[in-house]
Amino acid sequence: MRPSPLPPATPLLVLGASSLIGRALARVAPKLNAYWLSRSMRDTPGWITADLASPRLAQDLSGIAPLSTVLALTPIWITAPAVPALAALGVKRILAISSTSRFTKAASPEAAEREVAQRLAASEAQFIAACAEHGLAYTLFRPTLIYDEGFDRNISRLAALIRRTRVAPLSGNGRGRRQPVHAEDLALGALQALADPRTEGQVYNTPGGETLTYRQMVERLFAALGLKPNIIAFPSWIWRLAFLVAKPVLPGATAAMGARMAEDLVFDDAAARRDFGWSPRPFRPSFPGVTAAPDRRRKSPPQSR
Ligand SMILES: NC(=O)c1ccc[n+]([C@@H]2O[C@H](COP(=O)([O-])OP(=O)(O)OC[C@H]3O[C@@H](n4cnc5c(N)ncnc54)[C@H](OP(=O)(O)O)[C@@H]3O)[C@@H](O)[C@H]2O)c1
Repeated sequence: MRPSPLPPATPLLVLGASSLIGRALARVAPKLNAYWLSRSMRDTPGWITADLASPRLAQDLSGIAPLSTVLALTPIWITAPAVPALAALGVKRILAISSTSRFTKAASPEAAEREVAQRLAASEAQFIAACAEHGLAYTLFRPTLIYDEGFDRNISRLAALIRRTRVAPLSGNGRGRRQPVHAEDLALGALQALADPRTEGQVYNTPGGETLTYRQMVERLFAALGLKPNIIAFPSWIWRLAFLVAKPVLPGATAAMGARMAEDLVFDDAAARRDFGWSPRPFRPSFPGVTAAPDRRRKSPPQSR
């Protein structure tokens, strides 16, 4: 995908500039006419330090008006309550990011995960209602698992574990299908969608360009690291037990993550392809300074889209 020119002459306001997608956007569109906002301080031209949850948000941003378009890469529960303040600044168009976890975690055995799903669903509804009330044309993306080599906290963390230990643990057979999506594809896709009026008032699934099993995903990581796959599969009950023991030292890790390795987390992106040319890359991660192992996937082809 190539960056699309945005229609407005006013700068784009990027919320969540320090997120995976925000950092990828700065890389793939370095000349973008934009302000970049997060709570952290940074000595970068156009960088704004502000808290979207602050009651003074409209005043804090008033100095940078006029603004008409916002790319909100912040969690949807942070974005939705900020819509009235953005509207007060003259914003007319917004693209925000939710997550397919809205569906995949809805029936999780972990209460905390079910709460995430409920929070996403409620915040999406709040966002759409606020946009309607304040006259903003919205587009909403629901990405699957986002990765960006060396930066994300899932794929890259697993790669780091493999690099360190030369082994990857798996719960069960790892046959659950996945569609990891690269942060750069989401960054470029967001620019394309903002430039296309057909996307106004639409919610899109934005999965990665290839559907592959969890096991294949792990095998690709070994290949990307120039290593022979060395996967140790545990029966799911051992996995659950191990997580119970490890919970105090692995905050955020849950046994449900293991159970999901057997589940299909697959979403249809036909509407995104049709409306704004969504064409994400297949899952071929590469890590700087590492020569990938030769491609041995001929015998069992992945399930490409
Ligand atoms: N990671 C995934 O696999 C995944 C999957 C599906 C969907 N998503 C969604 O995709 C988006 C990006 O994901 P990510 O993992 O890159 O997110 P992330 O690392 O958690 O980044 C969140 C961003 O929001 C900013 N932020 C949070 N609270 C804020 C506040 N009160 N005021 C201003 N800025 C605030 C953070 O900036 P500071 O902390 O610097 O303020 C950061 O730039 C999010 O909407 C996420 O829900 C992520």
